[in-house]
Amino acid sequence: MNINELKDIVKRLVAPGKGILAADESSKTIQKRFEKIGVESNPETNLAYRKMLFTTSGVEQYISGVILYDETIRQSIDGIPVPQYLESKGILPGIKVDQGIVDEITTGLDGLSERLTEYKNLGAKFAKWRAVIVVGQEDTLIEKNAENLAKYASLCQEQDIVPIVEPEVLMDGDHDLEKCKEVTSKTLKAVFAKLVEHGVVLEGVILKPNMVIPGKESTVQASPQEIAETTVKTFLETVPTQVPGIVFLSGGQTPDEATKNLYEINLIGGLWELSFSYGRALQDEALKAWAGKSENVPAAQKAFLERAKKVSLARQGNA
Ligand code: 13P
Repeated sequence: MNINELKDIVKRLVAPGKGILAADESSKTIQKRFEKIGVESNPETNLAYRKMLFTTSGVEQYISGVILYDETIRQSIDGIPVPQYLESKGILPGIKVDQGIVDEITTGLDGLSERLTEYKNLGAKFAKWRAVIVVGQEDTLIEKNAENLAKYASLCQEQDIVPIVEPEVLMDGDHDLEKCKEVTSKTLKAVFAKLVEHGVVLEGVILKPNMVIPGKESTVQASPQEIAETTVKTFLETVPTQVPGIVFLSGGQTPDEATKNLYEINLIGGLWELSFSYGRALQDEALKAWAGKSENVPAAQKAFLERAKKVSLARQGNA
């Protein structure tokens, strides 16, 4: 393990004003997204859409890294393999390596070491593994998911790939802010205990958590200020100071909510870089504007660039 190389990748990913675009939707997930805009998902249409995102001129001012899916990391843009295309813009390519969720537990450890070697040869500099915690089922889900996250992170670091450690407490349900805090706190404590137990070097990981936020069906919603205060407080109680960066997922928040909440979080600040690794919140507007038509590419790129700029400003505590 080359810790300096890991630290350098982390530093670039959470550089001032920059964050990550999660474009690693699985085949099933991108199909669901495309259904909403009436577009058939296949490797060609998936690439046309992602090419629209990646070739957006100027987006590299705001985006430091892109998480790719297995299909995309093997595709090319105008004859250039996608990872090398991104690198040429100064954007680091990353790869989703988990293989989905079975009975609420994230899988993908079988053969992971070999897959990481292959992805590294294809150009991946960092990886992502997402575990989900359903509020109400946390007692049965946290330990096993934390263990798998730690095993994954350790295998990544062995190959000088930065692991993004993503334990997502879902927004599904009617729980309140306090309950989300309690479950997020338990989850993070378990995850860091397992990371340490498995010898993971914390200076060489990025944490990708949920914001602490009430469930979507909760009758008591919270203001962006309350969300920000509770989120930062939870991290101060659970996230070791050696962790260099925290990048939030958007988790079903609207683009405006995810932007506003990130802004409020950065007004408070913390011991870590507090940035973003958004999927839906960065893409929703661009996806709608694109609607599967090549003539809509300029409008879609404009929407994507505008949102990326807003999120980048929020990440710096600027509105
Ligand atoms: P969302 O921002 O849409 O939650 O996606 C982030 C992600 O990578 C989930 O694994």
